[in-house]
Amino acid sequence: MTRIFSGVKPTGHLTLGNYIGAVRKWVEEDQYRADALFSVVDLHALTVEHDPARVRRLSRQVATLLLAAGLDPERCVLFVQSHVDEHARLSYLLECTATDGEMRRMIQYREKAARERGRGGSVRLSLLTYPVLMAADILAYEADEVPVGDDQVQHVELTRDLAVRFNQRYGHTFTVPKATHPAVGARVMNLQDPTAKMGKSDDDGPGVVHLLDEPDVVRRKVMRAVTDSGRDVVYDREGRPGLANLLEVLAACTGADDPAGPAEGYASYGALKQDVADAVVELLRPLRARHAELAADPAYVDGVLREGASRARAMARPVVDRAYRAVGLLPAV
Ligand code: TYM
Repeated sequence: MTRIFSGVKPTGHLTLGNYIGAVRKWVEEDQYRADALFSVVDLHALTVEHDPARVRRLSRQVATLLLAAGLDPERCVLFVQSHVDEHARLSYLLECTATDGEMRRMIQYREKAARERGRGGSVRLSLLTYPVLMAADILAYEADEVPVGDDQVQHVELTRDLAVRFNQRYGHTFTVPKATHPAVGARVMNLQDPTAKMGKSDDDGPGVVHLLDEPDVVRRKVMRAVTDSGRDVVYDREGRPGLANLLEVLAACTGADDPAGPAEGYASYGALKQDVADAVVELLRPLRARHAELAADPAYVDGVLREGASRARAMARPVVDRAYRAVGLLPAV
């Protein structure tokens, strides 16, 4: 059976981008057709300056939201990365496989390092090795597929390279995974700046829709979205990125495969925005309701995470042990 792994960092409140670009596919497709694991990757949240209490709170909130979105613990494994030691164990072996040049070429590293330096801060070494830990997440479970948004493609490509290199050097050990994406919405852009990704670290930005935003907040954000000059509603990602983003969100919400389809039939931006706002509010309504129920039952969420970690550990342990033996480390007796 196909094995799937994906993860989400508890660095901010989940956004519409996270949902449309990744989580919805996990919920609606992946958990039904494969042996799927999903993780709240808390170790990754430590690669930039963070508030410990906030990371702890967000880890629980993200797990609760994933369940609210429809991940079913009977169908998939949901767990917190730091509860399974194998991720960090394997990450070290992969640091011995990757090169520093490869790490420095990663787009996300370059962007985030520049941001940290711009703020006068220093860059944590773990920010450089971030993609190696991500590779460990994926390879420890022998995942065939990694359902992600566009921004993670380079990291999954690197994971493939590391798996192939390790296998060549030490004998076949890892499955070589591939990235998968939703039909539309693999890159949802910031509503105020359609040249930038809608990112969860930009908290409270008026261009970022959070999954737990109240309906009137969602409406306001969508109605104020930056659009381009021009009056006709056409889908043109290069020339009209603001409009294209709204059309993609609408297509994703309504299940249309082609964002150009919904463009037909709109005489004005205002009417389109109204429909986008309604569609997003409806998309999020059940999720918000279920989140409120689950948030009132933290013991249930804890139980899911405990069981998830124990299942994940049992899957990752033999793979990582095999990798330790393959590189020449003496097994503990
Ligand atoms: P993270 O936490 O930034 O995002 C979680 C998922 O949401 C997708 N995503 C988006 N998709 C479309 N439009 C957007 N604006 C948008 N913003 C985020 C991301 O592509 C991702 O799929 N490094 C990963 C977490 C990670 C991981 C892993 C993922 C750690 N280990 C192993 C897969 C497998 C990250 O920062 O995702």
